[in-house]
Amino acid sequence: MTTVTVNGVRREIQAPTDTPLLYVLRNDLELTGPQFGCGLAQCGACSVLLNGKEVRSCIMTLGSAAGKEVTTLEGLPARWAKQKGLPDEEAAKTLHPVQEAWIEEQTPLCGFCQNGMMIKATELLERVSSPTVTEIKDAFTSGVSPHLCRCGSYTAIIQAVQRAGAAMAKRSQA
Ligand code: FES
Ligand code: FES
Repeated sequence: MTTVTVNGVRREIQAPTDTPLLYVLRNDLELTGPQFGCGLAQCGACSVLLNGKEVRSCIMTLGSAAGKEVTTLEGLPARWAKQKGLPDEEAAKTLHPVQEAWIEEQTPLCGFCQNGMMIKATELLERVSSPTVTEIKDAFTSGVSPHLCRCGSYTAIIQAVQRAGAAMAKRSQA
């Protein structure tokens, strides 16, 4: 039995500790935001936050996530609500500003890569409130591998990150 906190809830997982975290999230916990793209840490479709840092859940084992906090795309609204101390009724209706910006900018094309893009954007914006285009490009192309979008939605992603950053900064001042 392995204990992992997923989207704020402590979960006891009955699976071998070498099971990829992605399989646990999708198959055991029915969290289908993270996608199986390459399975080799080469695309970013499977990304989640592990203790606030973006990781590739396709190559991370369940055992290496033991005792840590995992946030998936599904958990972003609650993460934001907790960070802002929103009351329960407001938290239940809210999306994370990154998700709102993605909708407002109509960012996805086929959508397959967008889980990883939003997770990466969240990680970046929790560190840098108003990133420049260069900082956004660096964030999405550094690390274990660049985040890949076969549909070429990169320009829309940059615009959405900037929109989300502006919204988060504004709400921090409110
Ligand atoms: S599926 Fe994990 S990086 Fe591609
Ligand atoms: S929107 Fe299709 S792969 Fe990125």
